[in-house]
Amino acid sequence: MIDLSVSLNKNLVLSNPILTASGTFGYGDELADLLDINRFGGIITKSISLEPRQGNPDPRIVETPAGMINSIGLANIGLDAFLREKKKFLSHLRCKVIVNIAAKTEKEFCEVIQRLNDEDWISGYEINVSCPNVKEGGIAFGTDQETLQRLTKNIRKITDQYLIIKLTPNVTNIAQMAKIAEDAGADAVSLINTVYGSAIDIYTRKPRINSTIGGLSGPAIKPIALANVIKVSGAVRIPIIGIGGITTGEDVLEFLIAGATAVQLGTVNFMNPLALYGMLDFISDYLNQQGIDSISQLIGSLQK
Ligand SMILES: Cc1cc2nc3c(=O)[nH]c(=O)nc-3n(C[C@H](O)[C@H](O)[C@H](O)COP(=O)(O)O)c2cc1C
Repeated sequence: MIDLSVSLNKNLVLSNPILTASGTFGYGDELADLLDINRFGGIITKSISLEPRQGNPDPRIVETPAGMINSIGLANIGLDAFLREKKKFLSHLRCKVIVNIAAKTEKEFCEVIQRLNDEDWISGYEINVSCPNVKEGGIAFGTDQETLQRLTKNIRKITDQYLIIKLTPNVTNIAQMAKIAEDAGADAVSLINTVYGSAIDIYTRKPRINSTIGGLSGPAIKPIALANVIKVSGAVRIPIIGIGGITTGEDVLEFLIAGATAVQLGTVNFMNPLALYGMLDFISDYLNQQGIDSISQLIGSLQK
């Protein structure tokens, strides 16, 4: 028997290392007829904010040769509706449920967390300090060292819940940002959120996306994400959750070997929402062929 489970420490064990990436899988219920969600190690919800948000005007998604650019702007149903409408479905899942949180201010982050702290079906929070598509909050929290440190410390003070800080690659030194999050009390870091990107229609000379510059995701960013995981794994001891352009089982294994304990699937959910099944089969076959009985033996096994 091959053991696909991985431990993210602090009693958070996933049945396999594959999670969904925030904003690419809704709140899970929308896709429940399509696949068995419990086959994921866990799901990460769309970012939730205190109040509902409309997000940015259209067009807010554009396809690119190896991925997409989005400028959704954190559209979401807000905390009240989340608990009212999504809790029933999410709290009955057997896989882990991690709630991704976005906010305009530090106070808002703390308010959302205080409201969620008693929800025992939640296995962790992922704090989105890396959204490139909003004017207030978002990436501003994750690009300034002092702000990131203060926010992480303040969140740590009000919760014992598993705490993941989701980092942006749009900084000079992501390893330093990861270390700051670790020292301030984060239990894990996830990376990467989208990379700044743009696309222009040469006939109208207008940007193809309303915000002109949005967030690039998908296979185009996989090598960037992998390099960032390698950099961060040399800087922190807490688990790393790798994200960016993962579309195959081979990609998942690359991220684990690079130093990630788990990974998230994002843009691939728009291309093939059933990709998970093929990935799990590929990984089991690979481990069998290699004579490895536990996937955790691969984590950080990069031979330089
Ligand atoms: C349409 C879309 C919406 C997203 N919304 C969120 C979000 O609400 N919160 C968040 O933290 N990340 C969000 N992301 C970023 C993804 O979670 C992920 O970090 C990024 O897309 C890179 O992974 P990928 O290349 O596998 O898509 C979004 C990405 C896309 C494509």
